[in-house]
Amino acid sequence: MGAGKSTVGRRLAARLGRPFVDLDAVIEETAGMPIPAIFAREGEAGFREREAAAVRAVAQRKGQVIATGGGAVMRRDNLAALRAAGTLVWLRAPLETLLERAKAEGRRPLLAAGEAAAARLYDERLPVYALADVVVDATDDPDAVAAQIEQRLAGVPDEGPTVVSVPVGAAAYPVYVGAGLLQRLGQLLADRGVTGRCLVVTNPTVGAYYGEPLMQSLAAAGFAARRVDIPDGEAHKNLATAEQIYRAALAARLERRDFFVALGGGVVGDVAGFAAATYLRGVALVQAPTTLLAQVDASVGGKVGVNLAEGKNLVGAFHQPRLVAADVGALRTLPRRELVAGLAEVIKYGAIADPHLLAFLEDRLEGILDRRLSLLARIVARSCEIKARVVAADEKETQGLREVLNFGHTIGHAIEALTGYGQFLHGEAVAIGMVSAALLSHRLGRLSQDAVLRLVQILRRAGLPTAPPPLDTEGLLAVMQRDKKVRDGRWRFVLLDGIGQAFVTDEVPWQWIKDVLAEQQVL
Ligand SMILES: NC(=O)c1ccc[n+]([C@@H]2O[C@H](COP(=O)([O-])OP(=O)(O)OC[C@H]3O[C@@H](n4cnc5c(N)ncnc54)[C@H](O)[C@@H]3O)[C@@H](O)[C@H]2O)c1
Ligand SMILES: [Zn+2]
Repeated sequence: MGAGKSTVGRRLAARLGRPFVDLDAVIEETAGMPIPAIFAREGEAGFREREAAAVRAVAQRKGQVIATGGGAVMRRDNLAALRAAGTLVWLRAPLETLLERAKAEGRRPLLAAGEAAAARLYDERLPVYALADVVVDATDDPDAVAAQIEQRLAGVPDEGPTVVSVPVGAAAYPVYVGAGLLQRLGQLLADRGVTGRCLVVTNPTVGAYYGEPLMQSLAAAGFAARRVDIPDGEAHKNLATAEQIYRAALAARLERRDFFVALGGGVVGDVAGFAAATYLRGVALVQAPTTLLAQVDASVGGKVGVNLAEGKNLVGAFHQPRLVAADVGALRTLPRRELVAGLAEVIKYGAIADPHLLAFLEDRLEGILDRRLSLLARIVARSCEIKARVVAADEKETQGLREVLNFGHTIGHAIEALTGYGQFLHGEAVAIGMVSAALLSHRLGRLSQDAVLRLVQILRRAGLPTAPPPLDTEGLLAVMQRDKKVRDGRWRFVLLDGIGQAFVTDEVPWQWIKDVLAEQQVL
């Protein structure tokens, strides 16, 4: 309310030469009375029913500009219908602006409830609005806003990066999410007051695509930058590679006040991050993640480390980056299987913390798999927000809060280990583990059958596996025994209390684990 939907909508329609539909007007016409009268006679519930009917009606036709009330998208069926019909635009404005405008208009029944209630409503709706296809600043005058939307519909990518703040340690650090960030990293760093020499750590695969543009951008911003390529692959996430990085840093004469840039997937991020945490007892780190997994998970949260022959991530540190630049444009060259594996972690965030994110994935999956940059930016930013919130509450994993991020990982890790890390990508194993965890949640009476199937469906549509390969269940349980998520001989599982709410339990009988693994085969 007060964002200017009708005014902007009308002007946009005029620019595009399309019909304009005001959903409120449709509702009033059908009801034969003004909206305040509907609220007075039928209450908000009655209004929402009429609104849903109006959405169903208008969403059937394409090629129009529709202005909806701010509450319309809060209903799952409305949102799905509107997303299926076209592009969703959010006219973003601060609450204060909205209140002022709404007061001036003086026709809004919801506002009658008071400013505190309006603030609550704003907080409630924000997570849904944030997942619109196009977000524009609505504090401008209506013509400028309409022009902005028109440009963005034409595919002009002038949307600035989204910034997610990770409030840990002495100072919060920003995660920039957007397209074309690698070419602008030098400027971003300079703007944040970063100075010094730097060592860019990458691998030949990623370096071939993004090494040159990144080095040029650093040079253009005045940084003396050198690059070192480490070999590609998890097998090289080890101390020998860390040593290679230390030597390159010495050769480039990097000192304590200088910094590393990790350009690549989680492997580069983890080992370069570990080298940054330990070189000269620690230099600053900038993460430039280029896989979906690294953008939504590995680059945020400060965990860095390397593997030993005895196991994964056995040596490491907490070393928060100065800045993360997640360039979703880089995801265009990522092999599809890697993209899909990264999506498993995004689905995980939806499952444990945000039903709206899950709904967004359900509605926009095809566009995401087609790598539409605005969609990728939405899911990366939202995932980082969720991870940032969890990490901020439990920076060094001492409170157990960070544990919810391990949804699907108890069995996922065991499957990875048992299959020798060759058969499944991490995200694929996690997908299987999430289905196990969902089924266990259902057995405990905490998750409905429908919710289980919803999760299974989105995983399948993404192309992820949902059942374990025929494997030795006893062996799997033995691997789980050794996993660090076992305390006092009991398995700790992250389960769901409905979509969007996670909890940790050690009350899962091991016979149940066997049962669900079998159940998954026939789902
Ligand atoms: N630190 C953490 O909190 C954390 C969290 C999750 C995972 N991890 C770690 O992350 C690692 C896995 O990361 P990953 O899945 O990114 O794998 P990865 O780093 O091995 O990258 C996968 C492959 O994609 C290539 N690649 C990367 N970006 C590309 C691009 N834009 N275009 C084309 N190819 C590209 C890589 O060279 C590699 O071959 C594991 O070692 C895991 O332990 C760490
Ligand atoms: Zn994971």
